[in-house]
Amino acid sequence: MLNRQNIRADFPILSQKIFGKDLIYFDNAATTQKPICVINRISELYSTQNANIHRGIHFLSQQATAAHEQARKTVAAFINAPSHEEIIFTRGTTESINLVAECFARTCQKGDEIILSTIEHHSNIVSWQLAAQRYGLKIKVIPIDFEGNLRIDEYEKLFTEKTKIVAVAHVSNVLGTINDVKKITQIAHNHNVAVLIDGAQAVAHQKIDIQEINADFYAFSGHKIYAPTGIGVLYGKRCWLDKFEPYQGGGEMIESVSFERTTYNVLPYKFEAGTPDFISSVALETALNYMQSLDFKQIIEYEKNLLDYATQQLLQIPNLTIYGQAKEKCGVISFNITGIHHFDLGTLLDKTGVAIRTGHHCAQPLVEFFGQSGMCRISFAMYNTKEEVDVFMGNLRRCAKILS
Ligand code: ALA
Repeated sequence: MLNRQNIRADFPILSQKIFGKDLIYFDNAATTQKPICVINRISELYSTQNANIHRGIHFLSQQATAAHEQARKTVAAFINAPSHEEIIFTRGTTESINLVAECFARTCQKGDEIILSTIEHHSNIVSWQLAAQRYGLKIKVIPIDFEGNLRIDEYEKLFTEKTKIVAVAHVSNVLGTINDVKKITQIAHNHNVAVLIDGAQAVAHQKIDIQEINADFYAFSGHKIYAPTGIGVLYGKRCWLDKFEPYQGGGEMIESVSFERTTYNVLPYKFEAGTPDFISSVALETALNYMQSLDFKQIIEYEKNLLDYATQQLLQIPNLTIYGQAKEKCGVISFNITGIHHFDLGTLLDKTGVAIRTGHHCAQPLVEFFGQSGMCRISFAMYNTKEEVDVFMGNLRRCAKILS
């Protein structure tokens, strides 16, 4: 069993009061809170080890370089990537996807096709739209059913000889649907088509084995897995990364520069222009080590129980609709109560100490599929409890009464 009290004690922010009430933080799909080990590591690195990496012959720089490269190896091991050279540090999932969209699109011919899905976050839509506009590509969309499942039968019909890449979320940030990314990848590979998986909402709640999924690219953000904002990861198969031209130019990504001809660095540095954020990469490693000190199977089971419990409780509220009831689902619940604006409910709940997200959740096509302009969303992490769900339910009933 996970020791809930010990885990909660590791996250200092959770003992805060908001408007005089105990904080109930149910906005983990937006960002997770940080354990004290991550906070302390950042402070320690700035206090004792700060330097610019890969550039200095001095002690501090060498030490920081070693720490950054060890962090890369830890990330690779965490997702079971074949090689740490296939791990690129970025600013987050969004930058990882933009990198692939731009570099991949450059390898395409005008008229080639990209497959996305209805459940995508804007970062996995707009990045491809920009690339499609620049390189004359066409976007096709996998439809979903009202439970929030991708229509795999329709997906299979979208492939043509022009299809070049499929880009889908592992877990929906709105519905919590866990997509069968192994199957999605297998189907694409049967058509000789590459696959990118947006793992932003999966990585803290599912055990990721990139070799088992076999996707060509997998993207995630540190801040959704108890690490700082501003650091993300792109896993890419070497065959693609070798083929791609660099995404950005600058220091770090070069081998030699002259005004006549520049040659590029080896992987993964070819895609890491500018001073790397070694503080955040190492803090990400600390967060991953923290996760690894816990039992992932127990985390998944615990969060599933919390999801089932909260779902049952919410369904007892009159006129409440939950969007997305897929069989395979993570701890994310989006809902509305008829006649109450999501923004009003979220604002009032905030005054009771409960942090939820309201609005379109950066997934407008999906929210509009359900005929809504916005939704209330609660999303869990391993430090949330049934007791918090109970307090939230009481507050929700009171707020709904005031707003009805
Ligand atoms: N993608 C984040 C969310 O779903 C910001 O809230």
